Amino acid sequence: MPHLFTPLTLRSVTLRNRIGMSPMCQYSATDGVPNEWHFAHLAARAVGGVGLIIAEATGVEAQGRITLGCTGLWNDAQAEAWQRIVAFGRAQGAVMGVQLGHAGRKASTLKPWEGYASISHEQGGYESIGPSALAFAPALATPRAMTQSDIERVITAFAAAATRAVALGFQIIELHAAHGYLLHSFLSPLSNQRSDAYGGSFDNRTRLLREIVQHVRRVIPDATPLFVRLSCTDWLNGGWTLDESIALARQLQAEGIDLIDCSSGGAAPNVSIPLAPATKCPLPRRFGARLALPLPPSG
Ligand SMILES: Cc1cc2nc3c(=O)[nH]c(=O)nc-3n(C[C@H](O)[C@H](O)[C@H](O)COP(=O)(O)O)c2cc1C
Repeated sequence: MPHLFTPLTLRSVTLRNRIGMSPMCQYSATDGVPNEWHFAHLAARAVGGVGLIIAEATGVEAQGRITLGCTGLWNDAQAEAWQRIVAFGRAQGAVMGVQLGHAGRKASTLKPWEGYASISHEQGGYESIGPSALAFAPALATPRAMTQSDIERVITAFAAAATRAVALGFQIIELHAAHGYLLHSFLSPLSNQRSDAYGGSFDNRTRLLREIVQHVRRVIPDATPLFVRLSCTDWLNGGWTLDESIALARQLQAEGIDLIDCSSGGAAPNVSIPLAPATKCPLPRRFGARLALPLPPSG
């Protein structure tokens, strides 16, 4: 690992080393507002010397949260709470990023320690939306297929959350297009069976993500790096593939993306993933060999 402890500059931001803390949902917020738990979780790693911290998948709208405990960035109270955490992390020399996401058909689920099911209406459950009315798993509610106006609202919500994120001090924005959540569910033919301009061909399935990238890039400063996290393969025949990920990454690079954060899976339940130490490492290596993008610093 000859480069691990050397700085990496992306646009105007310099990471003090290439150790990154991956976004990790804590399921511990109230009304999307991060609290002392999130402060301790993120501040500890900043003090520990990590170069880049990416805060957990943070909903761009209330129904974009995976669980009722997920963080958000759609209002001022959330932005204010994030500001204190971000200021502390930056003061410790870490670069502070946030992963903006929308849970799509995986929204409104119980916290992991409560079981695996949709939240009932009485428990505060909310509507889930997706490219098509296809449930992720039998235990989860069937999402409502998104209309054109849903699509426009979600694009606007991503841009608004990115604007808030930069204003409160986040230095890097990552768009969550992995793990079966909304943006990934548009990419994968397993979950996207639309017959309009957002489904079918590769160009159509990638349209929503490309439009969000364009809108977000337009509202954040040129100096701010923009990352996209992709599930680079669904590990399933008929699903999203590594070759499609590489083709999409090329297009996103032209739209101003600075890094592809390579992950995999999450589009379908019970998929057999060849798990072993460093299972996912060949994915970024195959990206690195075919694209002029830096390799991701995180896991
Ligand atoms: C508790 C927990 C929460 C996670 N939350 C997120 C998340 O919010 N967004 C995301 O893209 N990945 C999430 N992940 C995946 C991690 O970011 C990471 O990619 C994964 O744990 C693999 O890295 P590792 O092998 O170092 O654990 C989560 C993982 C864990 C264990």
